[in-house]
Amino acid sequence: MHSVSQYQEFVIEYLQSQLEIKEPKNLYEPIHYILGLGGKRIRPVLTIMSAEIFDVSYKKALPAALAVEVFHNFSLVHDDIMDDAPLRRGNTTVHEKWDTNTAILSGDAMLILAYQYFEYYEPKIFRKLAKLFSKTALQVCEGQQLDVDFETRQDVTIPEYMKMIEYKTAVLVAAAIKMGAIIAEASTENSDLIYDFGLHLGLAFQLQDDYLDAFGDPETFGKQVGGDIIENKKTYLYLKTMEFADEADKQKLSDLFSNKVIDNSVKIEQTKELFVNSGAAVATQKAIEAYTFKAFELLDQMKIKEDKREILRAFGQRLMGRKV
Ligand code: IPE
Ligand code: IPE
Ligand code: MG
Ligand code: MG
Ligand code: MG
Repeated sequence: MHSVSQYQEFVIEYLQSQLEIKEPKNLYEPIHYILGLGGKRIRPVLTIMSAEIFDVSYKKALPAALAVEVFHNFSLVHDDIMDDAPLRRGNTTVHEKWDTNTAILSGDAMLILAYQYFEYYEPKIFRKLAKLFSKTALQVCEGQQLDVDFETRQDVTIPEYMKMIEYKTAVLVAAAIKMGAIIAEASTENSDLIYDFGLHLGLAFQLQDDYLDAFGDPETFGKQVGGDIIENKKTYLYLKTMEFADEADKQKLSDLFSNKVIDNSVKIEQTKELFVNSGAAVATQKAIEAYTFKAFELLDQMKIKEDKREILRAFGQRLMGRKV
C-alpha cells in the first residue's frame, strides 16, 4: 500500500502521460484545461487504493481510475453550465473562458474518452467495469436533473434530497471504489460492501459540499461561495431550516428563495443567518458525521486485514475534515 499523496501523484503522472494536444484545438484545449486545474482526485485515488486493498498493484487500476476522473470532470463542465457557475478550482469555468457550446462539446468528448479507458481490460473485467459505469453515469444524469427540478419546487423532502445526492454524487464515489475491487477480482461480498462504504462516504461528501458552498472560505474554497443560495438549491441546509425555523423565519427564507431579491450578497448573508440560527448548520454537520460513521460500520463487516481497514477509515476521517 502507499500513502494518499503517493496515490494522487500516480494519478497525476498517468494523466499527464495521456494528454496530447490534438486538433481541433477548441475541442481539446478545454479538456486539458479542466483536467489540469487539479482538484482533490478523490475518486481515482479510491479506485487504485481499492485495487491494493485487494492485493493487486495500483498500476492495473490506473486506466479505470482515469476513466472515473475524466467522467467526473465532464460532469463538472456540464454542471457549471447548469449551475451558472463562474469559478471552478479557483479558476474561470470552461463555459465562461470559452463559451457554452464549446463546454457542451468538450464535455461530450470527455465522456467518450472516459469509456475508452476500459478498453485496456480483458473481456471479463471490461464487461463488469463498463456495466457498472453505464449504470452509474445514467444515475448521475438522473440526479442532476432532480437537482435542477428541485430549484423551482417548494415541497422537496429530506428523503427526496437524499435520493438526489445519492444519484448525482454518491454512486460515482461508490463505483470508483468498487472498480478497484472488480479489477482485483475480490469476492462479491467484499465488492458489494466496499460499494456501500463508498456510497455512504459519497453522501457525507455531498452534504459537506453543500455546507462548504455556504460556509467555506472564499480564499481557499475554489468555487463561488453562496452559489447554491443564488441558484435556489434545495440543500440539506435549506430543508433543515424549513423544518426547524419558526413561521416568520420560514416565510423569510421562502421569500429569499423566490427570486424577488434585489442583491445576491444580501440574499447570501440573510440566508446564512437563517441556516445558523435555525440550527440547520449544526444539523448538517451531524448528518455528515452520521453518514461517515455508517460507512465505517460497513467497513467493519468487510473481510480484509485490520491495517487495510484502518487505511480506508483514515481516508473517510480525512474527508470529513476537508475545507475544499
Ligand atoms: C465536486 O467534486 C462535485 C461534487 C460532486 C460535490 P469534488 O469536490 O471532488 O471536486 P474536485 O475534483 O476536487 O475539484
Ligand atoms: C455536482 O453537484 C454533482 C455533479 C457534478 C454530478 P454540485 O453542483 O453541488 O457540485 P459543485 O458544488 O458545483 O462542485
Ligand atoms: Mg455545481
Ligand atoms: Mg450542480
Ligand atoms: Mg456543490
